[in-house]
Amino acid sequence: MGILKLAVLASGGGSNLQAIIDNIEAGKLNAEIKVVISDVVDAYALTRAENHSIPNLHINPKEFANRQEYDIALGRMIQEYQVDLVVLAGYMLLVSPEFLQFFPNKVINIHPALLPAFPGLNAQEQAFNYGVKVAGCTVHFVDSGMDSGPIIAQRTVPVLEDDTADTLKKRILEQEHVLFSEVIDWIAEGRVNVEGRRVVIS
Ligand code: GRF
Repeated sequence: MGILKLAVLASGGGSNLQAIIDNIEAGKLNAEIKVVISDVVDAYALTRAENHSIPNLHINPKEFANRQEYDIALGRMIQEYQVDLVVLAGYMLLVSPEFLQFFPNKVINIHPALLPAFPGLNAQEQAFNYGVKVAGCTVHFVDSGMDSGPIIAQRTVPVLEDDTADTLKKRILEQEHVLFSEVIDWIAEGRVNVEGRRVVIS
């Protein structure tokens, strides 16, 4: 496979986006980010893209009658960039089937917990408060449920005796930065196959 063309959607700080940019620039990842799009006008992720001369756009969900219309507009916008993969890197909105039909099996997300445990918001805090001894992160294909699509890969992070939710979150984030690029690299190499719920890496 040639260079993998990506669209990245991000709502926040974009440290996962930055890790992908850095790995591409270091020649460790055979990919190119064609566009970064955010639903949040002042998301720092957009500034990070700008700093690396990556096309970046804001699209305001409030300007659409409903989520489906927003998702269709977003899907069309991304389609113009002719990407191979859509990467949700801290994108805080659920995506609808209307969005996914543009990119079947081509949307991945990173979640800061070992799914299927602790889906949804504040996953690291949910896991910490539950008292798990092993936390971690998951990269998965996106379906229209919440953090429910087929799991591609996971990394574990031990919970230490003196951890707080914040220190744990920080160590999980470090692993997210490694895992996300690793998975994108496998996809770039054409090694990722979905067989029902199971994802097989060849
Ligand atoms: C990450 O913890 C990611 O797993 C979650 O949102 C956070 C985004 O962080 N979905 P960043 O914007 O990449 O720094």
